[in-house]
Amino acid sequence: MKIIMLGAPGAGKGTQAKMISKKYEIPHISTGDIFRANIKEGTELGKKAKEYMDQGLLVPDELTVDLVVDRLQKEDCKNGFILDGFPRTIAQAEALKNANQSLDFAIDVNVPDENIISRMEGRRACVGCGATYHVVYNPTKVEGICDACGKELILRDDDKPETVKKRLDVYHDQTQPLIDYYANVGILKTVDGTQDMEDVFNAIVTILGA
Ligand code: AP5
Ligand code: MG
Repeated sequence: MKIIMLGAPGAGKGTQAKMISKKYEIPHISTGDIFRANIKEGTELGKKAKEYMDQGLLVPDELTVDLVVDRLQKEDCKNGFILDGFPRTIAQAEALKNANQSLDFAIDVNVPDENIISRMEGRRACVGCGATYHVVYNPTKVEGICDACGKELILRDDDKPETVKKRLDVYHDQTQPLIDYYANVGILKTVDGTQDMEDVFNAIVTILGA
């Protein structure tokens, strides 16, 4: 099963993609996570990506497309994958098509802008394993400490309110057109992302099939 997740920053793509990956046993590939891992390791790619990410801008397609296309050639993707945060531009969607990746579902997790800002302010990410939580909606057992690996939790650099506003503008301008694009391909499915995480997941499972 080949799936892509669409949705605004903070819509819950990562949260749902992790759950889908586990249930359907397909790899979760998040371009945001790949860039953040490169930043942490101090690679050339990480240095370049950080310049754009910190401003709430998209990393240029030249740095993004080959990375994903190569990743999808790996053995673990042969039974499918869930892509989270890619494609984000029409050019990226076309590149995926040209790489002969025929997708089964494009799931749009729909959350209005008003809800996004408060979600981002409350999101916390683990410095160790990258797991994400929310101070209200998905708290850790011990405040500020990752349940999975015991490391410290931080607010992501790009989750400050000014940067979130910029990311939302960029989303509406460059990524939202993909909703019509995949509706035309005939694989678009929309779920109400304002529900509880479990309810959003149940709606997705109904679409994908148990
Ligand atoms: P990326 O990491 O992909 O960020 P994003 O799309 O902005 O999305 P987020 O990860 O912020 O949100 P999410 O939808 O995963 O929500 P989450 O599940 O965490 O990209 C970061 C940057 O990298 C981009 O800005 C860009 O610069 C660059 N980049 C990445 N891919 C690129 C590409 N293809 N091309 C170019 N540049 C690229 O949930 C958010 C919060 O809400 C969490 O705290 C969570 O616990 C909580 N939450 C989730 N679901 C619910 C719910 N149902 N109810 C209540 N709270 C919930
Ligand atoms: Mg994410």
